[in-house]
Amino acid sequence: MAVHEMDHPLILHKLSLMRDKQTGVKEFREATREIAMLMCYEATRDLPLKTIEIETPVAHARVRVISGKKIAIVPILRAGLGMVDGMLELIPTAKVGHLGMYRDPDTLKPVSYYCKMPQDIAERDCLIVDPMLATGGSSAAGIQVLKDMGVKHIKLMCLLAAPEGLALIQQEHPDVEIFVAAVDERLNDHGYIVPGLGDAGDRIFGTK
Ligand code: PRP
Ligand code: URA
Repeated sequence: MAVHEMDHPLILHKLSLMRDKQTGVKEFREATREIAMLMCYEATRDLPLKTIEIETPVAHARVRVISGKKIAIVPILRAGLGMVDGMLELIPTAKVGHLGMYRDPDTLKPVSYYCKMPQDIAERDCLIVDPMLATGGSSAAGIQVLKDMGVKHIKLMCLLAAPEGLALIQQEHPDVEIFVAAVDERLNDHGYIVPGLGDAGDRIFGTK
């Protein structure tokens, strides 16, 4: 399935702000929200439309509206939370499911600690959001959780990806479309994306 890498100047400019180690919590958080909103515009490009009839102040008109597609936004905690508000600004009726996962610092494997989904999750198209796709383990596990709940259509939206993470998702979940603001060079020995932006969760929440 396709990997969509963003080339919009606004996205790339805001991403550069996030990469800079001098950027503080407030600006980092704002840029996360704003890039998520801009990427949401791209990721919803294929939403189906239907035609309805309305009266404008001037005339009768046939106009197009989104055809009632049910969407769920699923952030991977913690860092994915920083992307949710930007997405909800564009899709205010979306429901939100939460997946709690952290990466074990020694094994780099994801450890799941929380899962709360809308009851009708199996009938919804899901957009998983997490700023970082490093080894890909967390996102791959998150996708599997949704598939096990019966979800048929899943998109993954990340700000930064390592080639290793993209390869894992494409191998384990070839049906999942990926939206990423930028693909970086590689992972370092600690599983951090290089050049990257550091620890996204710590920088969004100010925990380091
Ligand atoms: C980060 C990030 C991803 C994961 C990416 O979360 O937000 O969820 O690491 O790494 P992976 O692709 O190798 O799995 P982290 O484990 O630091 O948890 P946090 O968001 O709570 O800080
Ligand atoms: N998680 C992060 O927050 N940053 C990385 O570079 C890799 C995993």
